[in-house]
Amino acid sequence: MPSETLRNYQQKFSDVGGFFVPLAMVTWDFLFTAQSEMGVKGGMLEIGVFQGKSGILSSMYMAPEEPAFFLDIHEVPQARQRIAAVKSENAHFLQMNSIDALSDEYLAEMRGTLRWVHIDGEHTGYATRADLDTAAHLLSERGIICVDDFFSFKYPQLTAAVYQFLLEHPFKFKMFLASGNKCYICRASAFQAYDDYIRAQAIQRMRLAENKWTLTRTSYVHDYGCFTIIARNKERDFVGLDRDINAEVF
Ligand SMILES: C[S@@+](CC[C@H](N)C(=O)[O-])C[C@H]1O[C@@H](n2cnc3c(N)ncnc32)[C@H](O)[C@@H]1O
Repeated sequence: MPSETLRNYQQKFSDVGGFFVPLAMVTWDFLFTAQSEMGVKGGMLEIGVFQGKSGILSSMYMAPEEPAFFLDIHEVPQARQRIAAVKSENAHFLQMNSIDALSDEYLAEMRGTLRWVHIDGEHTGYATRADLDTAAHLLSERGIICVDDFFSFKYPQLTAAVYQFLLEHPFKFKMFLASGNKCYICRASAFQAYDDYIRAQAIQRMRLAENKWTLTRTSYVHDYGCFTIIARNKERDFVGLDRDINAEVF
């Protein structure tokens, strides 16, 4: 079931220009709901704001006291105006190259406290890697890092940077979901909670059958497998190992 927040967003902001597909919106709604049910609190950072299409939605889940940072190399006046309408307190706009993000003293002070970091800025491998390191510094115990354009053929270097980061930190960070052009990474210690939540709730809450999507898990976590959500596959809610057509969600 989409939350009231997502319905509100879709009604008011569907004509905002940008890059944010419906599956990604539903996935964000699902994950912010998961955080709320798990009692996860903290601020957020978006790197790459453009006209605010994704930043508006994440702002709408933030409590007034939770700080939200929006960082872009360019001025983003339309995003600023739209975000002010949904988050009037504690929204901070930083115009800078994301490579220098932690030179902002206020942002750097947020070390270990943010529950949501969306990386959608410069899509080079170098910048993606630097943005992941920034996110790792800022992320709270049960926070989520979301990286845009994961496995986009236009940006192969971005996917390389994501895997370099994961392979360098196997005991610190794990990818737990890939869905709607984006991947989702959490601290290794929080992995099981998100993995269990997806297994128990995703099919129903994201209305996968009605939306013509399928939950998959085509290999094990120790094989770098994770849940993914794709276009409807084999008319099934869940598709598992390729060799096991009748696999249950594992
Ligand atoms: C794909 S757009 C972001 C889309 C936005 N999140 C949305 O949902 O529509 C990428 C943004 O990243 C910004 N950007 C590009 N390189 C950057 C850098 N090195 N540091 C900070 N922002 C950067 C661009 O100015 C642009 O606004």
